[in-house]
Amino acid sequence: MLCGMTTSHHEPAIAATGLRKAYGDKTVLDGIDIQVPAGTVFSLLGPNGAGKTTAVNILSTLISADAGTARIAGHDLATEAHAIRSAIGVTGQFSAVDGLITGEENMLLMADLHHLSRTEGRRVVAGLLERFDLAEAAKKPASTYSGGMKRRLDIAMTLVGDPRVIFLDEPTTGLDPRSRHTMWQIIRELVGGGTTVFLTTQYLEEADELADRIAVLNGGRLVAQGSAEELKRLVPGGHVRLRFSDPEAHGRAATALREVTRDDQALTLQIPSDGSQRELRAILDWLDAAGVEADELSVHTPDLDDVFFALTGSSVPAQSAQSAQSAQSPQPAQSAQSAQSADKETAR
Ligand SMILES: Nc1ncnc2c1ncn2[C@@H]1O[C@H](COP(=O)(O)OP(=O)(O)OP(=O)(O)O)[C@@H](O)[C@H]1O
Ligand SMILES: [Mg+2]
Repeated sequence: MLCGMTTSHHEPAIAATGLRKAYGDKTVLDGIDIQVPAGTVFSLLGPNGAGKTTAVNILSTLISADAGTARIAGHDLATEAHAIRSAIGVTGQFSAVDGLITGEENMLLMADLHHLSRTEGRRVVAGLLERFDLAEAAKKPASTYSGGMKRRLDIAMTLVGDPRVIFLDEPTTGLDPRSRHTMWQIIRELVGGGTTVFLTTQYLEEADELADRIAVLNGGRLVAQGSAEELKRLVPGGHVRLRFSDPEAHGRAATALREVTRDDQALTLQIPSDGSQRELRAILDWLDAAGVEADELSVHTPDLDDVFFALTGSSVPAQSAQSAQSAQSPQPAQSAQSAQSADKETAR
């Protein structure tokens, strides 16, 4: 096809430069650059109020930016908003579902908005209802749907116009783990079919699962961008942490173990480690050989939570993470595990 040879063929699905937005004297976006290659998932992470929805609203033409330029699906944001609207789908943070009418009627309304013929509209809607496991509930008022069903309906409505780029603002907030996994599967299928997905989320695990690229928004700026692996490399690596109550034992352990970071005040030792069974055993063997026993042992594996907290300066107080580790040392392997999960709980 000839048009395949134009440059727009290789143009990113979303390319934004220097986006700015302020409300009064509050700067929400302070110069944001975003590039999303077609057929990939981009995830925007940030704490409450960081400006994620604002970014989605600007890129999906719902509100205008104060400065900056963007091209979405090959069209200029400032001059071709109409063309952009017909190429994209937006599922907002808050449901667009009308509860008074049925799920099917909500869908048919979207088909009308996209100027599909009656037959075509019915065909597309039936297919989507089936795909989103809503066929059975299709004739019931949407107000009777569960939160997860409403969310699925929301996304199904977004897909009626067969968009090439979709914006999903916190698509899985409030969903139970099963519905969340269903949603992830749907998103993967969309991307498999060549759709570009711009996703905001509060769940770092979700970005980790789905996103090709992740950007962290904080204080109006993108403070980091990269793959989940790249971002994880930004924070200090995994380690095993030992805590002692006896300064003498602490000192002896510090001498027995190599490459430790010692804190003489807290009586702790940090040993770089991947947290594997083999490394844990080696550490315990060293301690045994030195004849010392730690009061607490915990394993810390860096994950996106660490990245998030490190970059957004949110206070996951080290103290509270520590106090959650109540496990004592007699059963080191178990303590390590429970301390690790306590760590994660604290981080959320
Ligand atoms: N129409 C508006 N008028 C004034 N301030 C606004 C408006 N819309 C958003 N804001 C402010 O802009 C900031 C960013 O809001 P936004 O909704 O983009 O954040 P968010 O990252 O989506 O947060 P959340 O995770 O809570 O959804 C907030 O401080 C918010 O109060
Ligand atoms: Mg939001």
